[in-house]
Amino acid sequence: MKVYFDQYLRNALYHKDGYYYDESSIKEKGDFITSPQISDLFGFFISSYISLHSSKFFNNKPFSIVEIGCNDGLLASQILNHLKNSNLDLYENINYIIIEQNTHLKKNILLNLSGHEKKIEITNKLKKSKKIKKNAFFLCNEFFDSLPFHRCIFKNGSFFETAVKVDTKKNFIPIEVEIRTEVLDLIKNIGLEANENFFFEFPSKEYFDFFDDLKEASENFLFLIFDYGEKSQTLNIGKNPNGSARCFYKNQISTNFYENFQKQDITFSVNFQLLKKSFESIKAKELFFETQSRFLLTNGFVEIMEAYKPSNLLELQKIKKLISPSSMGEAFKVMLLVR
Ligand SMILES: C[S@@+](CC[C@H](N)C(=O)[O-])C[C@H]1O[C@@H](n2cnc3c(N)ncnc32)[C@H](O)[C@@H]1O
Repeated sequence: MKVYFDQYLRNALYHKDGYYYDESSIKEKGDFITSPQISDLFGFFISSYISLHSSKFFNNKPFSIVEIGCNDGLLASQILNHLKNSNLDLYENINYIIIEQNTHLKKNILLNLSGHEKKIEITNKLKKSKKIKKNAFFLCNEFFDSLPFHRCIFKNGSFFETAVKVDTKKNFIPIEVEIRTEVLDLIKNIGLEANENFFFEFPSKEYFDFFDDLKEASENFLFLIFDYGEKSQTLNIGKNPNGSARCFYKNQISTNFYENFQKQDITFSVNFQLLKKSFESIKAKELFFETQSRFLLTNGFVEIMEAYKPSNLLELQKIKKLISPSSMGEAFKVMLLVR
């Protein structure tokens, strides 16, 4: 029996026993660390950015903040706490919609957002929200990199995809098979070339479903994305012929997708060029794309740091990771889109 790589990933990550479907948050699992876990200042910064830019864009009309893939609601709590303290008028005029597929995390989210209960709606699918307003500020951190994907390769002028077989000893064995027509059609539709003999990751059903839902969501939106990756004119991204997919387990990085089944994160670098094209297909356009470091530094991150005075050197060193080129500053990118 074989399953295609995206099906394998769906089982590994989103099955009822999957990595992203149990009662522990990513913080509790401790396999990798995300920006809101590094410092509250990350969320405070986003809150200030929303304060500064959205009223003008939405003509002072009420709007929703919609966070996709919030996990335990840590970033939401940072944003709402800061907004309440720094811009009460705006806080009173917005609602905060949380879209998190892992329904087990609802109690963690409610705990993190205690005091904000009246402001929030929690749901596991964008299309299920009943409270998103006509105007919305969408945001996500490390959402797109967590979706299942097809693992493909372009060889001798043809596309192939990885499938996974189980041998008699119940080991997972990867094999290369002819690509399914429906995947090939999606690849062709995106219109990006592939380099010969390079593996690449191509988003699967969940990604396209998300765009179908977003298309029908708010009439006007800003969409702020934080994720690791690059804008690549080819489907393959980066210099590694094996592709960008990788696993995180207990803070160790590996490319063995077939060990620690359902116990490790499996992720990939986001191709922002592909992302941009997907947004264009729902009539949204890119406003800017830059490194996280540049985005934070040119939009007042230092002022926020000064205002909150990190309590000690250790705290300061942690915060620096968000902007340091050797840490998250360059690997992480920020894209803002508008519709
Ligand atoms: C890598 S984690 C990032 C969590 C958080 N944003 C942070 O920065 O700490 C990705 C999150 O997206 C959620 N997720 C994945 N697919 C989703 C989907 N289709 N809809 C909503 N949430 C999803 C996962 O359950 C997980 O909580």
